[in-house]
Amino acid sequence: MEDLVTFMEVPVEVGRDEVVTAKSIDGGSIVFKNVDFRYPGQEKLLYHNFNLSIAAGERIGVVGYSGGGKTTFIKLLQRLYEIDRGTIKIDGINIKDVNIEYLRNHISIVSQEPLLFHRTLLENISYGNENVCLADIHDAAKRARIHDFITSLPDGYDTVVGERGLRLSGGEKQRVAIARIMLRQTPIIVLDEATSNLDSISEAEIQNEIETGWSDRTLIVIAHRLSSVRYMDRILVFAEGQIVEEGDHASLILKKQGNYRTLMDKQNRYRRQGEV
Ligand SMILES: Nc1ncnc2c1ncn2[C@@H]1O[C@H](COP(=O)(O)OP(=O)(O)O)[C@@H](O)[C@H]1O
Ligand SMILES: [Mg+2]
Repeated sequence: MEDLVTFMEVPVEVGRDEVVTAKSIDGGSIVFKNVDFRYPGQEKLLYHNFNLSIAAGERIGVVGYSGGGKTTFIKLLQRLYEIDRGTIKIDGINIKDVNIEYLRNHISIVSQEPLLFHRTLLENISYGNENVCLADIHDAAKRARIHDFITSLPDGYDTVVGERGLRLSGGEKQRVAIARIMLRQTPIIVLDEATSNLDSISEAEIQNEIETGWSDRTLIVIAHRLSSVRYMDRILVFAEGQIVEEGDHASLILKKQGNYRTLMDKQNRYRRQGEV
């Protein structure tokens, strides 16, 4: 509530009027330098002297227990909150020096619980992408493995979803949201537990589409299931606002008492018991 009240008092969103610098966001490299951050009203810093550097086109997996600060990292990247110290740069541009709409138009995000509108499936997929044709939309839906489901509905792409329309399952909503970003051409793509409600086979298929279709973009995949990030160039393990471990899958599993290895052993144990 405090957050909301503070938010209401803010006259205009920060950065709305700022001018785009001569440089532009196109590669998608990300640098966090000496970042301190605490949520408004909180006593404790969540990030203290946080440093991270992601190369343009790098594929990054992010794992760790919930509450570790993974989603916050994405929120800061979009400048949903102001940091207390340090800098965040994309392609060498301080995100404070660009217009906030410009910034957000260069990042595509699918979250765990995507927001769908009380509109048709067609409108929901094309939302935010003005200049797309029907063929592009169908193609995006195919790649997100939702096209067959949509065409099996009596009204197909004209089916209205939402409260008074078709109720979609968590996994179907995620697929619609993934189809939506498949249409976007942004240098940075973030999946924040975006495939958590899919079975692991669909998840692997969709990820494969993403990786082949977007091989030159910066891809950040935050995942609960470790198998989802196995093939990423680099995996970051978050705990209490810090990156406690990083490396590729092969190097991380070698660390016997490591955080990644421990998470992995736990997931395997639960899977054997049929709990995952
Ligand atoms: N709006 C908020 N206000 C205060 N604390 C928050 C807010 N959002 C998240 N947090 C806290 O910040 C920490 C990190 O959260 P988050 O980045 O969402 O973790 P993760 O995505 O790894 O589960 C958690 O302790 C969480 O409770
Ligand atoms: Mg999260």
